Amino acid sequence: MSDTKSPKWYDSVWLGRYFAAQDILRREAPDRLEEFEQAMRVFRCPADYRVKVARGLFDDERLGQVKEIIRSIPRDVYWLDEVQQFGRLVVRDWPQFHALQETLVDVVSEMAGEPVEPSANFLSLYTHRGVCEPHLDAPSAKWTLDLCIDQSEPWPIHFSQIVDWPGPEFDPGEDWREEIKQDPALRFRSEVLMPGDALLFTGPNQWHYRDAISLAGGKPHCDLLFLHFVPVGTTELAQPENWARIFDLPQLGSLGIPPRVRLNRL
Ligand SMILES: [Fe+2]
Repeated sequence: MSDTKSPKWYDSVWLGRYFAAQDILRREAPDRLEEFEQAMRVFRCPADYRVKVARGLFDDERLGQVKEIIRSIPRDVYWLDEVQQFGRLVVRDWPQFHALQETLVDVVSEMAGEPVEPSANFLSLYTHRGVCEPHLDAPSAKWTLDLCIDQSEPWPIHFSQIVDWPGPEFDPGEDWREEIKQDPALRFRSEVLMPGDALLFTGPNQWHYRDAISLAGGKPHCDLLFLHFVPVGTTELAQPENWARIFDLPQLGSLGIPPRVRLNRL
């Protein structure tokens, strides 16, 4: 299916599917549009949510266990498809991180202010080319617990206030990265993590970015573990390929997002 209406940032494909679904329903089942939009509001967030930082969430022993898991991951499991855009090597949905994620459900539910369930996770090993341009996440990452494992230097991450999802008309122009970063209405605030610290943010509902990693010191790097959570019972709803079945609307049957393709191996 065409992505002509998709916005242009990382993870924006989902929002393009959401717009496409709205278009289809307006055309073919207008009496179901409100129900669909109402169901998707579960992935939005109250406007007064603020990023929560949990200092020392992982003590040295627990952090050591995470590092041990990382050392045990075979090199051919790493994905290279984000080296160019982010300067990072990625491991997606490693089973031991799923197990770790399960142990954090209560903590994250408390921080999020709603009961959550794990959706996905990925380990992100940023290199000297590390950078993360402004973007919004897909709702399968309504909540992300960002755990700092190791780093050469503290590396700020910047978060906007809670925003409405941009509509199909949203067009910040060619220089959209800087337009977003400099927009005073977004009221970006910065956070810095040290190893063992974690923070919880809502990626579909607040812009976030990291500028280029500092090249100071020795070997520039930042090892982060991203654990994604969704409201309890919404894992399937977050995936457009399930909408036709969930809503019993065959018209939405063409909206699946192709799985990421592992382009390269180490
Ligand atoms: Fe993100």
